[in-house]
Amino acid sequence: MPPRVIIHNTVSLDNAVFGFDIDIGLHYQVLLSYRPEAMLVGSATAKTGIEMFLNIDEQEEPADRHRPPQSPEDARPIGVFVDSRGVLHGLLHFYRRLEHIRDVVVLVSGTTPEAYLAYLREREYPYIRCGEERVDLRAALQELRENFGVDTMVTDSGSGLNAALMEQRIADEISLIVTPAIAGNAPKTLFGSVQTPCDLELLSSAKLGEGRVHLHYRFRK
Ligand SMILES: NC(=O)c1ccc[n+]([C@@H]2O[C@H](COP(=O)([O-])OP(=O)(O)OC[C@H]3O[C@@H](n4cnc5c(N)ncnc54)[C@H](OP(=O)(O)O)[C@@H]3O)[C@@H](O)[C@H]2O)c1
Repeated sequence: MPPRVIIHNTVSLDNAVFGFDIDIGLHYQVLLSYRPEAMLVGSATAKTGIEMFLNIDEQEEPADRHRPPQSPEDARPIGVFVDSRGVLHGLLHFYRRLEHIRDVVVLVSGTTPEAYLAYLREREYPYIRCGEERVDLRAALQELRENFGVDTMVTDSGSGLNAALMEQRIADEISLIVTPAIAGNAPKTLFGSVQTPCDLELLSSAKLGEGRVHLHYRFRK
């Protein structure tokens, strides 16, 4: 059985995923409330996160080149990064340093540049190579379940990866923090690239304060 996959996003009332004031603390508080063994992060999201919240010029230190020891008692999720094109080459140390994830695992494909694979190997980043042009998400999830003990995975991604998870019928649930803001001129909306209609069932709804609402849905399959 594949892991349970929850698409989690903070959205504006006009369905934008950026371009408005996102409460990052609340975003991760709700994400972690699902007690996931893994967070699935797209490469563009990961790179944007470094550019927005960290100093991208901060260099890798010798200690960053080694995989941290893994313990079965450690309840923190692993960060799983979808990156077939090597967008995160030279940048993964930022994520290895984060306290809320215990390990960095990378998903790559048959077209991933060899130089990026060498970068991953030299730094002891575990990676899963599956799919030809792009990562075969379904196969990768199965391997994450079998080899990394992932039962529940929550996304931290934008519309591109979310759409792929929905189109391929991999996603099981949607978790949305709806924020009382209109972003306006949003170039990408949350479900803008989904082509296939989907039906959902509401599992819960809750007021979060400051006008925000949390909605949790399950896909009817
Ligand atoms: N508000 C929120 O909750 C929230 C959360 C996260 C991100 N964001 C925002 O969303 C924006 C980025 O969104 P994005 O969608 O452009 O980038 P993304 O989340 O990084 O998604 C792109 C990633 O998905 C992979 N992907 C896309 N389609 C795929 C498919 N069919 N099969 C396999 N892999 C596939 C790409 O793989 P390749 O390696 O092959 O390219 C790439 O790694 C940023 O501005 C970020 O700030 C908002």
